[in-house]
Amino acid sequence: MAEKTYEIRITRQDPDTGEKTKSFYQIPVIPGMTVLEALWYIVDRIDGSLSFRYSCRGGVCGSCSMQINREVQLACQVQLSMLPQGTIIIEPLPRLSVIKDLVVDMKPFMNKYNSVQPFFANKKLPQQGEMVQSAEQRTDIEDSVKCIMCGACYVVCPLVYKDADFMGPAAMAAAQRFAFDSRNEQGKQRLVEVNGLGDFHGCLKVGKCSHVCPKGVDPARRIEEIREYVEALSKNN
Ligand code: SF4
Ligand code: FES
Repeated sequence: MAEKTYEIRITRQDPDTGEKTKSFYQIPVIPGMTVLEALWYIVDRIDGSLSFRYSCRGGVCGSCSMQINREVQLACQVQLSMLPQGTIIIEPLPRLSVIKDLVVDMKPFMNKYNSVQPFFANKKLPQQGEMVQSAEQRTDIEDSVKCIMCGACYVVCPLVYKDADFMGPAAMAAAQRFAFDSRNEQGKQRLVEVNGLGDFHGCLKVGKCSHVCPKGVDPARRIEEIREYVEALSKNN
């Protein structure tokens, strides 16, 4: 009896010529196999020239973000058996330059992310022990700390491509995280100084960012929290 297989179609791009091609592969049906494991199968047994990114294999590093059947997802989180019958279409993240095959240039995303200075900047640190945070204070950043910088929200946000100054959902979620973290000295003040209040008003509230986020960061809600803070601040001034 013929072995049952999945057909996978991958959009590829030659790094030297920029030529785009579509390659088809037949993968045996193996229970629990993820899209990432299927890509390894291809590299190990069929075509070693295929390029893609990964690191953790557990939905933690954000490296394996790509389009699977036209939806931006983490390849290590999607099992082939979860997908509808028929050819599985795998493509690189949209709207970013392709370096090779499924590997894209994340610099535009990272530059904007870094522009919010996503780190603590305390002048005074405790002489000993840890910087303690209460359970209640933690709720302010509970969701935004989950971001794995996969870029999914960035590539689906319509405003990112209309307004070059708009930071994008992940950067704004990071701004919320470092502004609202009780351990960050003058965190909210830094939000104003570093980012400028005006930059937070661009969001069109389309909500695609929250829909695609694989970690439940809910960037649209985080942007709203910044907006509410900014509005309250201007009322009090
Ligand atoms: S907010 Fe979600 S979708 Fe956006 S980069 Fe972070 S984990 Fe990825
Ligand atoms: S390999 Fe790290 S998130 Fe998929």
